[in-house]
Amino acid sequence: MADGTRSYATSQKLYEEACRIIPGGVNSALRNVVPHLIFKEARGAILVDADGNEYIDYQAAFGPPILGHNHPGIIRRVAAALDSPLLPGMGTTELEIAVAKKIVQHVPSAEKVLLCSTGGEATYHAIRVSRAVTGRPKIIKFQGCYHGFHDYVLCNIASPADKVGKLDPASAGILPEALGKTLVCTFNDLEDVERTLDANRGEIAAIILEPIAHNIGCVLPKPGFLEGLRQLATAHGCVLIFDEVITGFRHHLGGYQAICGVMPDLTTMGKAIANGFPMAALAGKAEIMDRFKTRTGGDTFFAGTFNGNAVGCAAALATMEILEREPVHEHTRRLGERLRTGLGEIHQRLGIRATVAGFGSIFLTYFMEGPIESYSDLLRNDEARFVEYRRKLIERGILKVPVNLKRNHVSYAHTDAHIDSTLGICEEVLKEMFATSARSSTFSRGTG
Ligand SMILES: Cc1ncc(COP(=O)(O)O)c(C=O)c1O
Repeated sequence: MADGTRSYATSQKLYEEACRIIPGGVNSALRNVVPHLIFKEARGAILVDADGNEYIDYQAAFGPPILGHNHPGIIRRVAAALDSPLLPGMGTTELEIAVAKKIVQHVPSAEKVLLCSTGGEATYHAIRVSRAVTGRPKIIKFQGCYHGFHDYVLCNIASPADKVGKLDPASAGILPEALGKTLVCTFNDLEDVERTLDANRGEIAAIILEPIAHNIGCVLPKPGFLEGLRQLATAHGCVLIFDEVITGFRHHLGGYQAICGVMPDLTTMGKAIANGFPMAALAGKAEIMDRFKTRTGGDTFFAGTFNGNAVGCAAALATMEILEREPVHEHTRRLGERLRTGLGEIHQRLGIRATVAGFGSIFLTYFMEGPIESYSDLLRNDEARFVEYRRKLIERGILKVPVNLKRNHVSYAHTDAHIDSTLGICEEVLKEMFATSARSSTFSRGTG
């Protein structure tokens, strides 16, 4: 993958070493990508690999470092917390109370909060408590949305075309009885949801969704979709869960619900809440949250050895305080907009058939024409191009994960100079790719 100036020898050597003892050399499935890079330094918007190659990072670990990597203000607060009780394992710390207060203060539908360490734990507990309060077994999720690795929801994410419309488990070893209670609807299709609710009357405990489908890039809810889900959930007596693990804190301190004005019953949060430290939360209506067994008389089990640990709490508190007082969202939105506009202009100039999608700090290029309203539309994306483009960008120091449909993230540490440089490199790479493809006629040109 070398472009003549960059060497990857050290990464390659370390990766081979990793593979001997770690299956695939990585600790999370989507990290096993080509090129296999080993990172040794992170600061702000920049990652540096083991060979000293620098990258402007938009992968952002799938979303947490909204303020940039290793933000000094967060690191200082975490360091200070190391002198506090890290994990007493009974009772509560003041840090836990402070984090919960901040979440209730900012997230409009949050009346009570429980802390955990990962987004997947939060969605698991949200679904379990929904079953507890409704006494019903089934849930509805949407094709293209991801909610963590557990058996309740691990299906129908980036499904192959022949699996769309059917249950598509995303792993071996899933208990069919668990996933069998998960019904899959089409994002932005209220009629589909209504039909599914009618056909399973009195059996649906919850509707869970990412309010913006970010696990397949950026599919925005159509006007009225979230409002319609709210009405349907209320009419059918089921719990509406907004999985704001990506949208929360990244798009607004109060999550996407603070932007769209639709209130879920439960909200799951993670990723950007603590700028890279492990922290997640489940929040929502007091009458539901009070069902958890953390309260005397509660009947729905909730536990975790590391829940509320001082490191995660200090990082979350520090992150939320910076989001409160600094123009983080204004900055990331402006740079996101610059990228989206700039990329659109490049595509037009070069006559490339592509669609730039995004919202706020999130952006990406699909190699297809719109409209894009649901996962099925994205089956038209040219996956080979998508991945090739990103591999070529990596060779030139722009880091976007080379996995189909994955989104890119701008952080508070990105500058206008980073955006200028990124746009310049994107144009060079696209010119090169499409000049080659025009010669080999593998891709017809269209109008931007
Ligand atoms: C929307 C959404 N929910 C839940 C999760 C699971 O979070 P975690 O990986 O922290 O368990 C993710 C992770 O990517 C996610 O994107």
